[in-house]
Amino acid sequence: MSVAKRDSGNRKVTTHRLIEMKQRGEKISMLTAYDYSMAKLIDQAGMDVILVGDSASNVMAGNVTTLPITLDQMIYHGKSVMKAVSRALVIVDLPFGAYQGNSREAVSSAIRVMKETHADCIKVEGGAEIQESVVRILSTGIPVMGHLGLTPQSINKFGTYAVRAREEVEAKKLIDDAHLLEELGCFSLILEKIPARLATQVASELKIPVIGIGAGAGVDGQVLVMHDMLGITEDFSPRFLRRYANLKEVITKAVQTYVEDIKRQDFPNESEQY
Ligand code: KIV
Repeated sequence: MSVAKRDSGNRKVTTHRLIEMKQRGEKISMLTAYDYSMAKLIDQAGMDVILVGDSASNVMAGNVTTLPITLDQMIYHGKSVMKAVSRALVIVDLPFGAYQGNSREAVSSAIRVMKETHADCIKVEGGAEIQESVVRILSTGIPVMGHLGLTPQSINKFGTYAVRAREEVEAKKLIDDAHLLEELGCFSLILEKIPARLATQVASELKIPVIGIGAGAGVDGQVLVMHDMLGITEDFSPRFLRRYANLKEVITKAVQTYVEDIKRQDFPNESEQY
């Protein structure tokens, strides 16, 4: 395995730098964040890209799907993250209902996100169906990331979170959509939960960076949902998820010990009072 030279340092990550990373074969790291404190830790740990994902609907608000989260709520999360981040590129998801209706609404949603959060770019789900919205947002100078494959905002159409694009017809549409998004001017693309071979093909055909989640190792970077990779969530265990910590256990133990210390009058002690 040859590892490309890493462009470390504190230089701000830009959409242009992501394309350079792809060109020299440096893999792009990306993780979600939704609040100030976690975003600060993640940025300082050296993450290239932070996604203020509409997965906030699941992991922050407790909804079953990403559909209920509103534009105002995404802006709230985006603002909190942006106060913490100095190096990573920050992308905010446009939520369900904020861009599919018509391209005018899409532009006004994207402009609100950029003006109110100060984020670097926005992300939308879908291909040819949202072409008009993508074109109009891009025409305002706002960088757009695409998202194909398993697109959670369409879960009610799919009816399942199973792997997408296994069949030839769907795979062909995904390849066509990926090329379309690149031609329209998107700076990058997420591929979610599709066969690794298909994702590798798309990444090798496109010049823009392709970031995968459950799309194998042949793409230009990887993204995970922060709560999943830190082991805070436990009811979500797809094959592609690697847990880097078991924060559920750490947090539960700490809270239980705190409760016990209060009950047995051990906290606060002499040195912890005035
Ligand atoms: O909202 C999100 O967290 C996402 C990732 C799963 C890619 O879109």
